[in-house]
Amino acid sequence: MIRSHVIGSGSALPARRLTNEELAAEYNLDTSDEWIVERTGITQRYFAGEGETTATLATAAARKALEMAGADASEIGLIVLATATPDNTFPATATQVQQALGCNGGIAFDVAAVCTGFLYAIGVADSMLRIGHAKKALVIGAETFSRILDFEDRTTCVLFGDGAGALVLEARESGEAQTGVLGTKLHADGAHCDLLHVDGGPSSTGTVGKLRMKGREVFRHAVVNLSSVLKEVLEETGVSAAEIDWVVPHQANARILDATARKLGLPMEKVVVTVDRHANTSAASVPLAFDTAMRDGRLKAGDLVMLEAMGGGFTWGASLLRL
Ligand code: ACO
Repeated sequence: MIRSHVIGSGSALPARRLTNEELAAEYNLDTSDEWIVERTGITQRYFAGEGETTATLATAAARKALEMAGADASEIGLIVLATATPDNTFPATATQVQQALGCNGGIAFDVAAVCTGFLYAIGVADSMLRIGHAKKALVIGAETFSRILDFEDRTTCVLFGDGAGALVLEARESGEAQTGVLGTKLHADGAHCDLLHVDGGPSSTGTVGKLRMKGREVFRHAVVNLSSVLKEVLEETGVSAAEIDWVVPHQANARILDATARKLGLPMEKVVVTVDRHANTSAASVPLAFDTAMRDGRLKAGDLVMLEAMGGGFTWGASLLRL
């Protein structure tokens, strides 16, 4: 059976790092390191500076992923880029990455599913690879949420950061080892689209807008939806939770990670956590965490890895793969 295999990963962070204390001082916020760490687990985040954009971060992550894969950009026939903070309303940021990499001529487009964007991108790219649209794909999550934060709102601006992560997927025979993407489940429930949204856009206000969130409601839905979609993927693939080697979750909040792992009976030692260093980087968080664990040697060939995310819309999803 032809399946999509991860053959490389890469990530990129902006140069500027801000600790909780530096953030509070710079934006004159009535908050504390203690409050942020206790409620979220976040100790620092990276914010894009001048000349750093979603496209430049995405391109840097893609180059590193290609290097790990030992692949040339010219081999990439498909780029799917997940973002809620594109450089421009159009063209798709994926085409700007394509131009920077010099691999023009294939397919390139963006998907918008906010924090679940990378899971949607994996689902779309995997389907397209399996039916032969391309042989190799770049799947990228890249964001500059610092550009849509309201720094007057301490309940949201302390939670997010900027960054990008990328995977190179290759369509090839899965064989007896059952490697590659084994199953993906995606969901959306537009009834909750007002609980986490940006209050602007080209067609409504003509402005970029700022992020707005009802944090408690989001938290409640996140734990319920994530544990249910994880169970769905396990059922579909016939795998038990105990067989999973690593969970690479969306990094929204340490308490969501704890609560979801507990619901599945998974020890936290199997969960890759980067929210403390990166904060919530929306669509970039799963590939950023994945690349961190690839490069520090935690993720190894043969490992069974679960990716999961939940975000605005609401959208949520999970994907199980064997490396
Ligand atoms: N510093 C200090 N105090 C604060 C801050 C802050 N940065 N933000 C809020 N507070 C105060 C509030 O004003 C409130 O004070 P009050 O009791 O005097 O009114 C108090 O802290 C408690 O506020 P809550 O909003 O009830 O705090 P809660 O314990 O729910 O934590 C949080 C807030 C961290 C946002 C939590 O709801 C959460 O994690 N929600 C999930 C949201 C999330 O992670 N979203 C990411 C995007 S979606 C996703 O990626 C899944």
